[in-house]
Amino acid sequence: MKIRINEVGPRDGLQSQGKTLSVEDRLSLIQALVKVGLKNVEAGSFVSPKAVPQMAGTDDLFALLPERSAVRYAGLVPNMKGYELAVAAGANVVNVVLSVTETMNQKNIRMSLPQTVEVCTAIIERGRCEGVEVQAYLAVAFECPFEGLVEPAVVARLAKRLEQAGASKIIIADTIGAANPEHVRRLLNGVISEVGSDILSCHFHDTRGIALANITAALDHGIREFDTSIGGLGGCPFSPGATGNVATEDVVLLLNSMGHDTGINPFDLVPVVCLAEQLTGVPLGGKSFRWLSQQLSKASTAGTSHGG
Ligand code: COA
Ligand code: ZN
Repeated sequence: MKIRINEVGPRDGLQSQGKTLSVEDRLSLIQALVKVGLKNVEAGSFVSPKAVPQMAGTDDLFALLPERSAVRYAGLVPNMKGYELAVAAGANVVNVVLSVTETMNQKNIRMSLPQTVEVCTAIIERGRCEGVEVQAYLAVAFECPFEGLVEPAVVARLAKRLEQAGASKIIIADTIGAANPEHVRRLLNGVISEVGSDILSCHFHDTRGIALANITAALDHGIREFDTSIGGLGGCPFSPGATGNVATEDVVLLLNSMGHDTGINPFDLVPVVCLAEQLTGVPLGGKSFRWLSQQLSKASTAGTSHGG
């Protein structure tokens, strides 16, 4: 089975780093990711630089991106201004974010839930008229850090709304990494009964170390696309225990081992994890990183190479 890996490290990963990377450093990370075969990359966000200084200069970054015709580069936007900036910068895909709870929308983008629904559907509809692909995130879909557990019916209803507006993809996001496989089954059952599985993708954080189990549960429900972040990049340095998205190398290794086709060799990701570590100054690497590194150094001592 072909599975699409959507790399979000350059956006979701870098936006929460204590260190703000230069546009050149952000570009070098993306170049390395593209070189090893990642074809879907969320390169940055078009948000207020006051709200997220780590993402300032995303328009300059987009002007420099490599292999523009072969790679789908997405830009996250919180409002119509962001949409216009993303399209002007040449983003192939625009991502809107709708948090499924009132408080999370207020905290994230200073809009109410109904206002955010309105803004997101307006951007999706405008994208349809202008030939711009718009994907929609349903953030905190499992649990909200402010309002607690979320009813699957709420997520299903919002997913239907976004599908009807014309979103090309709806991404169910476990923003704080609180999901478990049973919860994934319950939520996906409800959402799939409204919109089917083809339009869905999943975004898991590995805060509690069970993101890979959540991915296998989602696979069982027909999900064929996942967001991942190189080395598990992400999390907040000021919030102990918070971690990033599930690591790209872990997901690629898991899926390849199960016989799925990700188009990526997990061993090729090892030097990219090292680069991300060097750029951010933060120790990185998913659960498989040590094993992948050991195998690589054994192979290089023996003079052989790894085919993945
Ligand atoms: N890109 C860049 N600048 C933007 C912008 C965008 N998409 N939207 C608004 N701005 C600017 C305005 O021009 C204004 O600039 P000024 O102070 O120089 O005049 C300033 O931001 C404030 O605008 P306002 O409409 O009053 O926004 P706000 O202060 O209520 O903030 C958001 C709302 C959405 C702009 C801000 O909260 C935001 O960017 N949030 C993003 C959060 C995020 O990225 N979360 C993680 C991913 S989900
Ligand atoms: Zn995330």
